[in-house]
Amino acid sequence: MPAGQKTNDASEIYHTFSKVMQVKGFEGLIQNIRIKKGWKILDVGCGTGNNTFQLSKMVGEKGKVVGIDPIKERIEKAKDAFSDTSNLEFHQAFGRDASNFGDDFDLVIMVFVLHWLTPAEKEATLKSIFKCLKRGGQLLLNPSNGSDFFKTVIRQLSVYEKITSNFYYIGVDEIKNLLITAGFGDLDISEEYRLVFQGIQSLDDFIHWIAASIHTVDYEPLVVEMLDVCQRQDMSFMYNESGQLTVKHPVYNIYCKK
Ligand SMILES: C[S@@+](CC[C@H](N)C(=O)[O-])C[C@H]1O[C@@H](n2cnc3c(N)ncnc32)[C@H](O)[C@@H]1O
Repeated sequence: MPAGQKTNDASEIYHTFSKVMQVKGFEGLIQNIRIKKGWKILDVGCGTGNNTFQLSKMVGEKGKVVGIDPIKERIEKAKDAFSDTSNLEFHQAFGRDASNFGDDFDLVIMVFVLHWLTPAEKEATLKSIFKCLKRGGQLLLNPSNGSDFFKTVIRQLSVYEKITSNFYYIGVDEIKNLLITAGFGDLDISEEYRLVFQGIQSLDDFIHWIAASIHTVDYEPLVVEMLDVCQRQDMSFMYNESGQLTVKHPVYNIYCKK
């Protein structure tokens, strides 16, 4: 969405931006595995379904991809956008209910989701995912662990407490323990630090994206306040040596198996 063009529909904005923003993390995560035709895949916290749709093309007509997300508007948007894809379905559901969707998935992905879950939700969700996988099935996830933008701009917002009360960043050792407790093995965890946003040109667009992503706070006032904070402070930390918008954003790329 071009800078300045606004809509009140945060799910619509999320859908537009996630095509360029979320897809990088998604592609980075799946590049190390060979997704086969006929696979059954569950996308937990699928948002408006852009990655879920990509997966449905990879598994072919004989495969099946299910996307689940607790936000009604995002699931409605996903159903609307991809209604003519026969091997794809979307349901409004929490990750902790993953095992309601079967017990024979080849792969489960969670792209930028784990940090939104409370400690109890994390545990319940990973256990439920373990149940829904077939033996040897894989789980891929890439939780974030905060960002420079978060530490500087978000920290100054009047809704900071409300926003942070919904982020549950944890370190790599805690993540490992949770996965092992849920039953997972063959853990492979690496850290990635920088995201260069090729699809987003301006800080203004970035702010619209972040505001639409933070589904726990009203979109419009959040945009206004973030723009105001950014105008009042030095934002040079957001750009790399070539002048590209870049966010220092620690992300763990995690692969494990049942
Ligand atoms: C940053 S978005 C990522 C969406 C999608 N995976 C993508 O890459 O575009 C995080 C998503 O996690 C979802 N979420 C929050 N709590 C959840 C839970 N308990 N179980 C499953 N999904 C959850 C949110 O509704 C949101 O759509």
